[in-house]
Parts: sequence; C-alpha cells; structure tokens
Amino acid sequence: MSMSSQNCLSGGSITITRPDDCHLHVRDGDALACVVPHTAARFARAIIMPNLRPPVTTTAQALLYQQRILSAVPPGLAFLPLMTLYLTDDLDADEIKRARDAGVVAVKLYPAGATTNSDAGVTDIRKTYATLEAMQREGMPLLLHGEVTSHAIDVFDREAVFIETQLMPLRQDFPELKMVLEHITTHEAVQYVLACDRWTAATITAHHLLFNRNAIFAGGIRPHYFCLPVLKRETHRQALLSAATCGSRKFFLGTDSAPHAIHLKENNSGCAGCYTAFAAMELYAQAFDAAGAIDKLEAFASFYGADFYGLPHNTGTLTLRRESWRLPDSFPLGQDQLKPLCSGETLAWRVVS
Ligand code: DOR
Ligand code: ZN
Repeated sequence: MSMSSQNCLSGGSITITRPDDCHLHVRDGDALACVVPHTAARFARAIIMPNLRPPVTTTAQALLYQQRILSAVPPGLAFLPLMTLYLTDDLDADEIKRARDAGVVAVKLYPAGATTNSDAGVTDIRKTYATLEAMQREGMPLLLHGEVTSHAIDVFDREAVFIETQLMPLRQDFPELKMVLEHITTHEAVQYVLACDRWTAATITAHHLLFNRNAIFAGGIRPHYFCLPVLKRETHRQALLSAATCGSRKFFLGTDSAPHAIHLKENNSGCAGCYTAFAAMELYAQAFDAAGAIDKLEAFASFYGADFYGLPHNTGTLTLRRESWRLPDSFPLGQDQLKPLCSGETLAWRVVS
C-alpha cells in the first residue's frame, strides 16, 4: 500500500494507484456509450472479453473493436482497452504472433456452451494445441472460463471438475503457458492456484466476494444475481475473500461486469451476468473493508494484474471515501435498460476522484 492510502485511511478515505480491470465485457454498438464511461471513470485499463456475436477471432477485428471502445470514452478521461482474441477449435497458430505484435494481450478460452456467446467456443482443448504452443512460445496468456459443460455435472461443481479434468492435464502439457483462471468461485480454485507456480493466476469478481448463492434466492428468484460461474455457498466466498486479501500476487481484480438488457435478465431463460462496472471499485472496497483488509485493495486492484501481464503500473490515482450513496435503479442501454447489481441499494464507499 502506498503512503497516501495509509495517510488517508484514518480520515475515512483511501487513495490508491489507478486500478486495472483485468476481465470486462462492454459489448458493442449502442451499449458502448452506456458502459464504457462507467469503467473509464474508475480504471485506467481493462482487458476486454471477445465474446461478441460474431466473436473477435482476428487481430484486425480486435483492433477495430478497440477503436469503437475508444470512441465511447468521454473526453478528459484516459482509458486504454486491452484486447483479447476468442479461441476457437480452428484459430490459426499464425494469428498469435500477429496478435502479439499488434498489442493484443491474451486469448480467451470458452468451453463451447459454457456461458453467454460461447457457441463458437472450444469443443475439445486438444484441437487447439498448435495454437497453444504458439502462445506458450510468444508469452501470450490463455484466459480460461473454467467450467465443464456436461449436463451430467451439477452446476455448482462445474468449476472444480474443470480444474481436475481439464486444467491439470493442460498444465502438464504446457508447463510455461501463462494462464489466468477467470472469475474463480470455489475453495478448490483458490487451492489450485496457490499450489501452482508463477505461470498461473486468477481473477476474482466483486460479486463473488460479496455474495453467496443465497443471494440468488433471497425473497424470490433474483435474476440480477445470476452469473456464470454461479455464486457458490458461503465457505467458498470465505475462501475467495482470504485469497483476495492474503497479499498473494496470484489473485487480482477482474470484475466480469457483463451488461445485459433488463428484459433479457428478467426472462424465462435469463442471461448470465452481473453488471458491476458502475460501482466496481466501490463494491470491492466494501468487500475488502468488511474483511478488515482495505489496506490490501491497492495491490489487488492496481499492481498484481499489471505485473502478471508485464504492464507498467498506472500513474494516476483513485480516491474512495467512506460515504453512503444509493445506486441508481437503471441506466439506458441503447434502446433498452440496464440494471446494475445492487440497484437502488446503499453502498458504503464512494469514488470521489
Ligand atoms: O455471467 C457471465 N456473463 N459469465 C460469463 O462467463 C460471460 C458473461 C457475459 O458475457 O455475459
Ligand atoms: Zn466474463
């Protein structure tokens, strides 16, 4: 923690180096104008997920998408979207060097059918081995949606089964491939990452730090708490909190903020994803503060992710104050409406500058 945060803490505020969101969905088109300003007001950089329709599978597409995101950054805010490619069964190994040279920071693996816009995802990891070899050679990180897709496996067990049946063999075959297990949700994932060497890291969302699976069912079914991997029981939330606040460089901030129009969430077949970008740092501050570890927030949010990706630390700062404020009920999202997680509720921390 920097001296400034120590100094400010006693006054009920914390000043940290400007953070990075290492896992973010911003969609495309009209949605960008709604969601990009929320992230750009808090974060200096964000790693942008490629699960558009159609997915971002080439360097050329990623660079055009980056330009569209940059066009949605409000004047006066400095924000850099860092781009990723979507791994398919036939992503060409030659694309990796091209991507690396163009500044693409990672490739995302979605098991086919695991989550939103994953139908073009990987059907069998072995089909991607030539591309993974190129990634290992080029130092290009692989980001994993770590869930098996078999309907025979209980939805609450899909992450733990993925680690055992998919990730462990993959790691054996690619000992020096940089991997990030994204949005981890279980004690098993925490244990796995802690036991790994420096080539493996994990992101943790604010909602998995703040809520357990009861939140989905409190007083009736609450679709805005549905994401994938789904919230787990309290023991897992506690394991995630310990991981995020223990000072290990292997765990860092990735919101997985995932905007869906209200009518697609409050739906017979509601979409997975929690929209947290609007209050992301405030939600993390709440979680860290409740764990008595607000002093650990800066490294988790601003240093460990950058270090894993080999990026310089950001230069600006972000100040949060302990102050109650009420989240809006919704925002316009193109022609639709977007409900943030915890809409209408009161948060204890607020970004002030
Ligand atoms: O809840 C989720 N929403 N999990 C994902 O993996 C994807 C995301 C989305 O794109 O909506
Ligand atoms: Zn995601």
